[in-house]
Amino acid sequence: MNKKLPIESAVKKRISVRNYADMRIEETKMSEIKEFVSNTDNPFSQHVNFHFFDLNDSGEGQKLGTYGVIKGAQHYLGASVKPVPLALVAVGYQLETIMLYLAQLDIGTCWLGGTFDRKGFSLALSIESDEVLPAITPFGYAKERRHLQEVVMRTFIQAHKRFDWDKLFFINDFQTPLTKEQADEFTFALEMVRLAPSASNKQPWRILLKDGVWHFYQFKSPGYSDVFPYDIQRIDMGIAAAHFDLATAEKGIRGQFVWDIDPHIDMPVNIEYVFSWIKSS
Ligand SMILES: Cc1cc2nc3c(=O)[nH]c(=O)nc-3n(C[C@H](O)[C@H](O)[C@H](O)COP(=O)(O)O)c2cc1C
Repeated sequence: MNKKLPIESAVKKRISVRNYADMRIEETKMSEIKEFVSNTDNPFSQHVNFHFFDLNDSGEGQKLGTYGVIKGAQHYLGASVKPVPLALVAVGYQLETIMLYLAQLDIGTCWLGGTFDRKGFSLALSIESDEVLPAITPFGYAKERRHLQEVVMRTFIQAHKRFDWDKLFFINDFQTPLTKEQADEFTFALEMVRLAPSASNKQPWRILLKDGVWHFYQFKSPGYSDVFPYDIQRIDMGIAAAHFDLATAEKGIRGQFVWDIDPHIDMPVNIEYVFSWIKSS
């Protein structure tokens, strides 16, 4: 992973692109991207397989679809995993790291967890029978203007907005919001999490600080994941982990993710514990 990634500019530059210019990515740039992707990893001990796909190189391209959501894209990248605990978190972490890198290269992306022909892409990307394809992204140069369906969609899900701190970050219990003063050297990392993308912009991350340990919880929007073959918001949790990890690393704060502890914190309804981050002493 490229630890020198200027995380703040990448996070602010990355925005879902659904309308692509009729322009291929240059060969040298494509080689760099492939190398970056093959060097990424994740801290959740899960193996994520990445698959590049070029709609132009394949007759299959005609049949693969995104329900009109993505227009003009030629390049796609898919992430497949074995359906085991934390695999979706790993996909979120690793694919988001790649998307932030692409944003730095002025290449647009868009997380697709729902609006794509999962069966068709699974076949085209030769996904193994014991694996799932939870998400793909188109990537390429953005067209100057958004297409109409994209404008409507962004307005509907209020894609440009993010929750305030007091809805996302807590200290000791879920009744007490964490202030920036209390967050101290972690203020920047939490702000990077706050700006992260999430499925339908639901922002399910809830982070609670207790005894110096950062516990990451998922607010499960009731019924939301039922329409997916898996808990899509686990990917959002992995995205939050990537933003937190890249931001702390950039500030020289060292630590690691753990997931086999019990924080012993009363959880409000629909909240689930997922993992924690502990600072190295
Ligand atoms: C896990 C995940 C799945 C997503 N699935 C879709 C999708 O199927 N179709 C789509 O158009 N956007 C999808 N999005 C994009 C979100 O709608 C978008 O990230 C969010 O509205 C915030 O907007 P922004 O990315 O421009 O900041 C997905 C995002 C995430 C993180």
